[in-house]
Amino acid sequence: MSFQKTITLSNGAPLAQIGLGTWLSKEKEVENAVEIAIRNGYRHIDCALIYQNQHEVGAALKKVIPDVVKREEVFITSKLWNHSHHPEDVEKELDQTLAELGLDYLDLYLVHWPVSFPPGQLFTRHAEKQEMVIDDNGPSLVETWKAMIKLPKTGKVKAIGVSNFSIAHIKGIAEATGVWPAANQIERHPLNPQFELLEFCKEHNVHITSYSPLGNNIIGVKKLVDYPEVKAIADRLGCTNAQVLIAWGAYDGCSVIPKSVQEDRIKSNFQQVKLSKEDYDIITALGKDNHLRFNLPFRYCTASDPKWDVNIFDEEDEKNATHQVKIV
Ligand SMILES: NC(=O)c1ccc[n+]([C@@H]2O[C@H](COP(=O)([O-])OP(=O)(O)OC[C@H]3O[C@@H](n4cnc5c(N)ncnc54)[C@H](OP(=O)(O)O)[C@@H]3O)[C@@H](O)[C@H]2O)c1
Repeated sequence: MSFQKTITLSNGAPLAQIGLGTWLSKEKEVENAVEIAIRNGYRHIDCALIYQNQHEVGAALKKVIPDVVKREEVFITSKLWNHSHHPEDVEKELDQTLAELGLDYLDLYLVHWPVSFPPGQLFTRHAEKQEMVIDDNGPSLVETWKAMIKLPKTGKVKAIGVSNFSIAHIKGIAEATGVWPAANQIERHPLNPQFELLEFCKEHNVHITSYSPLGNNIIGVKKLVDYPEVKAIADRLGCTNAQVLIAWGAYDGCSVIPKSVQEDRIKSNFQQVKLSKEDYDIITALGKDNHLRFNLPFRYCTASDPKWDVNIFDEEDEKNATHQVKIV
């Protein structure tokens, strides 16, 4: 049975705990997915310029606003991509995102990653390595954050936050400006629980949104939804395996944004179930000797920042990583 918890952010805005992710949703799929989601009760949609599908999300929003929901009833998040970290590019990219989504404002705008790419290059890899081309002359996180801080006054965003930021990154921008992010969106599932970061963010009223809650398996290992321990709990509770993982993600008060383009999954992922402490502990234990991060920050920043949990799949790339995050 769904209970659809709502969380209050530091700016007072209500955020529905379960939202819809839109990354890797193929062309023509995401428009349908967002429409289905809103028609079935979702009020929180996660977007980003780099997903290159915001125009389709926008087309879906056009179909449901205002006929199904009022604009102010849907919480829309988007993210500043790495190639727009220069202060003069920040509002320009926000304008592009608003145009793609067909909106006047966002509820939350995040700095997508703590790393700057050369302006004008969405995504460029070094020819012979997996590593991204980094703008070593790019702005520091603090410089970009100062440009973000100006945005709420324009009326184009209600709140600002970050994504994939470590404790050191958040401390750095907050101490330099006195402005704490409203949220930090991070990869979070039983194999990458990030408890220390979670605790730090709680202390400072920085809301955590957990992405890849089903352990989006882009590196081809066994899927979290297929773990027998997850299935055993799902069978006992009479819910889906994915619902167990989403409930694990929500247990500590985080919002959770599972992505699906399949109608039955979009609907069932939204039906929140509650885990007992015992079941929560069983799922947490899956990550005890099995640490895994699916989204790979070492390709952007050196793992010498001790707050990045690096897993065995990262080691080779970690050795090759040369970039240091410039915080201040
Ligand atoms: N801030 C960041 O850097 C960042 C990074 C990654 C993701 N995100 C956000 O977080 C969202 C969610 O993360 P994610 O997309 O990486 O991974 P995810 O939501 O953990 O997993 C998505 C995968 O699980 C499948 N799936 C969905 N529901 C399922 C179910 N009930 N049973 C079995 N499989 C199911 C989906 O396939 P179908 O679509 O076929 O159902 C898809 O392959 C993203 O879409 C994006 O909005 C943010």
